[in-house]
Amino acid sequence: MAIGVFDSGLGGLTIVKSLREIYPTEKIIYYGDTLRVPYGGKKPEELIHLADRITGFLISQGATLIIDACNTTSALAIDVLRDKYGDMAEIIGVVEPGAHKAAQIGKKQVGLMATEATVNSGVYQKKIFSKRDDLDVHTMACAQLVPIIETGDVDSYQLKDVLGAYLDPLLAENVDTLVMGCTHYPFLKERIREIVGDEICLIDPGVEVVSSIEHYGGGDMEPSICYTSHDSEDFSEKATTLLAGHGFSTFHTLDVMEV
Ligand code: DGL
Repeated sequence: MAIGVFDSGLGGLTIVKSLREIYPTEKIIYYGDTLRVPYGGKKPEELIHLADRITGFLISQGATLIIDACNTTSALAIDVLRDKYGDMAEIIGVVEPGAHKAAQIGKKQVGLMATEATVNSGVYQKKIFSKRDDLDVHTMACAQLVPIIETGDVDSYQLKDVLGAYLDPLLAENVDTLVMGCTHYPFLKERIREIVGDEICLIDPGVEVVSSIEHYGGGDMEPSICYTSHDSEDFSEKATTLLAGHGFSTFHTLDVMEV
């Protein structure tokens, strides 16, 4: 048994961070599609195809709980994944818990930072409105953030200006709650906080998804493994800088589209 976690790249590590707080030694199999990151500008059909192949791979490696740690594929592919693999593994995505939290704590104006594909899917907005039709949801597609975060440098000076340009329009709408609707963004949490101030509630989908796991009876102490579709050595260095406690014993390069 293992927990399978996948993302386009480094972003899913923000979920691993939350997972490690509850399951410090559980076997995690991670897949980062670093050959194809970023996912945010891709078409729904391609995203569904990629999420399908990665999920099939993680299940073939023994994962019985799959966390789609990418908001973009969670928004577009989760129903397809559940239909196809639901009897082999429990499949949870990040959008539902994130939207649920926004509906729970939003006062009036909710901001959503996410990739273009997530924003355009309208899934977050729909899920929030299904629980709270009195909220306004203001979206911002932040196309430049994932490529910057994928360099592994989340403190670059350039980030401040880029973030400011994305956040200013949301601040102008007086958002009281802000969803970091891409799992890469919590790496910028402190930077975001510096810009938005202390009054706005920040929602981290990683925290919400992990607390939404009702029961995982794993107990498998086998080593955790990280796969990436491109240059696992480079990924290992960046992952260890961003999350020293990731707990992966080995890193391998493997493209699921080739197996
Ligand atoms: N971490 C992915 C998400 O949550 C990033 C998508 C991308 O690669 O653009 O949406």
